[in-house]
Amino acid sequence: MTDLKSKFLEVYSVLKSELLHDSAFEFTDDSRQWVDRMLDYNVPGGKLNRGLSVIDSYKLLKEGKELTDDEVFLACALGWCIEWLQAYFLVLDDIMDSSHTRRGQPCWFRKPKVGMIAINDGIILRNHIPRILKKHFRGKPYYVDLLDLFNEVEFQTACGQMIDLITTLEGEKDLSKYSLPLHHRIVQYKTAYYSFYLPVACALLMAGENLDNHTDVKNILIEMGTYFQVQDDYLDCFGHPDVIGKIGTDIEDFKCSWLVVKALELCNEEQKKLLYENYGKDDPTCVAKVKELYEALNLQSMRARVTRS
Ligand code: IPE
Ligand code: MN
Ligand code: MN
Repeated sequence: MTDLKSKFLEVYSVLKSELLHDSAFEFTDDSRQWVDRMLDYNVPGGKLNRGLSVIDSYKLLKEGKELTDDEVFLACALGWCIEWLQAYFLVLDDIMDSSHTRRGQPCWFRKPKVGMIAINDGIILRNHIPRILKKHFRGKPYYVDLLDLFNEVEFQTACGQMIDLITTLEGEKDLSKYSLPLHHRIVQYKTAYYSFYLPVACALLMAGENLDNHTDVKNILIEMGTYFQVQDDYLDCFGHPDVIGKIGTDIEDFKCSWLVVKALELCNEEQKKLLYENYGKDDPTCVAKVKELYEALNLQSMRARVTRS
């Protein structure tokens, strides 16, 4: 494990311990244990790319100058705030998407003793973020900007999730509304802001920058985030669960995935009929037919060209 990653994980233990001894709540052994288990299950088990990129970005902004221990800790703490935000969104996203697994284990709400308590756990995860920020950043000149940034990005992500979800509404399942511009709008909001812009924006604030002066940075990162979600859409169908840690549900869920948008663009009338008849059905035979069509249209080879179309 790299030094950076082990340092980052050390900071997780510190933050968790602070939250488990938060004086704003009188924890009992049971409640403390619940939060402890819930955090370990949902927060640190991912790739940690978003969190680690706060530290990498901050280092780059400092142009190679050695960071103080304090700076490293604060950058790690901000990184973890993003991982907490991600955990919050994923716990709820998996309920809404009826997913089965995440990061190689059952989704949190699928655990026998959890179920819909997962909704409140999501709310707790979300509430941990301002508590971490208050504890470690209250005195900083950029504290208000940091709070505002997390609020803005959370709002953007929730709006992205909303449009992702309302396009799949039962009774209105209409593939003709699925297009590249709709897909672009969904993924920009649901993924790109929190996954790509947020880590760099956190580093910029720590470095004393005004985010209003960096709209170019934002635009590039949004493009990168869009490309990232196209890959996520692709892997939902073609990735192996052992590698991506989750079982895809986009076809069953009638998601406006990049794959279905591209398939609609390339298919003939007969293939279109097959897509209309089988997309969005929770039936393995229908899902298999859609996957076969994707393969027939050779969508695997299209993936690299997405940002240019
Ligand atoms: C959800 O996108 C993005 C957020 C959690 C905000 P997806 O629904 O495609 O994510 P996965 O595939 O379940 O990880
Ligand atoms: Mn999902
Ligand atoms: Mn996905």
